[in-house]
Amino acid sequence: MTTRPGEAIRVRGLEKSFGDLHVLRGTDFAVARGSIFALLGSNGAGKTTVVRILSTLLRPDAGSATVEGFDVVARAADVRESISLTGQFAAVDDVLTGRENLVLVARLRHLDDVGRVADALLARFGLTDAARRRVATYSGGMRRRLDIAMSLVGDPPVIFLDEPTTGLDPQSRLEVWNSVRELARQGTTVLLTTQYLDEAEQLADRIAILHEGRIIANGTLADLRRLLPPAEVEHVEKQPTLEDVFLAVVGTGTAVAAAGRTRVEEPR
Ligand SMILES: Nc1ncnc2c1ncn2[C@@H]1O[C@H](COP(=O)(O)OP(=O)(O)O)[C@@H](O)[C@H]1O
Ligand SMILES: [Mg+2]
Repeated sequence: MTTRPGEAIRVRGLEKSFGDLHVLRGTDFAVARGSIFALLGSNGAGKTTVVRILSTLLRPDAGSATVEGFDVVARAADVRESISLTGQFAAVDDVLTGRENLVLVARLRHLDDVGRVADALLARFGLTDAARRRVATYSGGMRRRLDIAMSLVGDPPVIFLDEPTTGLDPQSRLEVWNSVRELARQGTTVLLTTQYLDEAEQLADRIAILHEGRIIANGTLADLRRLLPPAEVEHVEKQPTLEDVFLAVVGTGTAVAAAGRTRVEEPR
């Protein structure tokens, strides 16, 4: 399988079943290097399954995927060198301080100058003032930011964030969003999964909707809005929200037929 230049991730015809449950049924998408890509889907749609395959934790039954040009099955070790994965539940140690958590990870990765690495990440994620406090005293948003910072030790070019803000309060979500934007600004490719439409709307350069094992829509927010029939003009012209689009494409009826006709192409 070939990866086009500029693509950090390429997924083709991915299939995965658990027993009789056919979760992925030919999932295809590509993620441009340095962009934020949101994989949007309801609970149980298969988002985590995709992320686990891309991070080499799970083998696909069929189809293929590359990360930074490396096949996730044949070149699993190279893929692991290129990525970091932050799951839904923060992997930080409560008993340690924020700085100690970062130093620990930097040591595990055999980096030089672990203190400098830790301090730079603390500054980047706005945690310098809290650096020497135990994580047990952190807010949910601070923990999540520390978790993301820990996953960046060693500067992986690709980061997977599996539902990064699930369970966070609104203020903490905003903090995490800012951190994710900052990641992409510095050139990291971000694939995030979410079931929150506003999160995809706020953060993502491209949004793909995973439904019944396939990507049923894939494009920029503007592309996805065009899947819906033109807005009706009354007194003001109302842009469809991502929620309108999502409900139309995952639902049944005429809106789906319209969406099917104008299906957005993958990036070239
Ligand atoms: N290891 C597993 N064994 C059996 N079923 C699984 C396993 N992992 C996931 N599933 C099932 O596959 C479906 C998709 O799961 P998942 O990828 O976690 O969805 P999402 O992350 O979109 O919520 C769910 O119905 C889930 O229960
Ligand atoms: Mg999940």
